[in-house]
Amino acid sequence: MKYLTLKENGKQFSKIALGTTYFGTTIEEKSAMRMLDEFADSGGTTIDTALVYGQEEDGLPGRSEMIIGRWLKSNNMYKEMAIVTKGLHPSLTTHQSRISLEQMKRDLDRSFIDLGADNLDLWFFHRDDRSKPVKEFLSLIDQISSYFPVTSFGVSNWDSSRLNEICEYETQQNRVHIDASEIQWSLAESSPALHEDESIVCMDDDQLQWYSEHQRPLFAYSSQAKGFFSKFAEGIALNAKVTKRFVSENNIKRAERVKRLSETYQCPASSIVLSYITSAPFPSVAIIGPSCTHQLEDSLKDPDITLTQTERTYLESGEGEEHVFV
Ligand SMILES: NC(=O)c1ccc[n+]([C@@H]2O[C@H](COP(=O)([O-])OP(=O)(O)OC[C@H]3O[C@@H](n4cnc5c(N)ncnc54)[C@H](OP(=O)(O)O)[C@@H]3O)[C@@H](O)[C@H]2O)c1
Repeated sequence: MKYLTLKENGKQFSKIALGTTYFGTTIEEKSAMRMLDEFADSGGTTIDTALVYGQEEDGLPGRSEMIIGRWLKSNNMYKEMAIVTKGLHPSLTTHQSRISLEQMKRDLDRSFIDLGADNLDLWFFHRDDRSKPVKEFLSLIDQISSYFPVTSFGVSNWDSSRLNEICEYETQQNRVHIDASEIQWSLAESSPALHEDESIVCMDDDQLQWYSEHQRPLFAYSSQAKGFFSKFAEGIALNAKVTKRFVSENNIKRAERVKRLSETYQCPASSIVLSYITSAPFPSVAIIGPSCTHQLEDSLKDPDITLTQTERTYLESGEGEEHVFV
């Protein structure tokens, strides 16, 4: 397993993170616990959750955080694991933005109780609210530190123009507030429109340039394009959601190259797809979302493969084929 560290954060974050959106809903508790066991046994440390995962109403506990909390407690794994959670998601009922100190305290209080943690390793603002200045978000971080022990903060679904505003504010304040970002990124190109959700951010040329220039750690969600590459390689039919979000002429060509490279490496397609993220030329974590232990095992089969930039370019465009297959 490959790891990275965040600025002034002593935890080792495994570069493959376990995503837990469906813990307690479509993934029942027993299976979720088994996935957490297997993930930790394979050297995985980064668990990506959010208050809103499995939360039925604003203010109620989220099932994902509760299950993770029970697992951390019964296995005494607080020191070993890097707990990543998110809060201040827009209201589940009104869909209104909830950016305020009072709501942040309410969400963090809930997450601390449900995770049973003394300290959170990384907490993300789950969504941006572009009607609010960046300063308003970052001053919340300054204020919250006297209430809750959170080691690092991040922003999820913020685009490069807003990330630039963060950099400007941090320069003025002479202090880094944001240690990581989380957006949708896989080898399959997609867009918020294809996800039918304009509040998310998908990787594109502007974002890619930003991360390459700034070297700010990136956590990539839907890093396996919902299983598109694995299912393509295995000849398994794709469901409507995957087809809408990820099937295009260009992505099919990419899937053919993944299949070919995985045959050369003698590894599953998932290992190539995840390594495409974890071998990026900036610090990066690939968040996986297995729906069963078989998928978890498949995605964790070869976590140490590091692709060269030539191999990554070949996967993207087909260029350099003669250097990849010698
Ligand atoms: N910050 C945010 O706003 C945000 C948004 C979304 C997700 N996330 C985080 O990212 C995590 C992962 O996202 P995701 O679930 O979209 O990731 P993903 O791994 O790209 O997609 C998960 C789906 O892919 C299929 N799959 C997974 N592993 C497979 C394998 N080895 N072989 C074949 N198919 C496989 C499964 O589909 P089937 O069940 O159909 O087989 C599974 O439900 C979430 O759990 C959450 O923690 C964050």
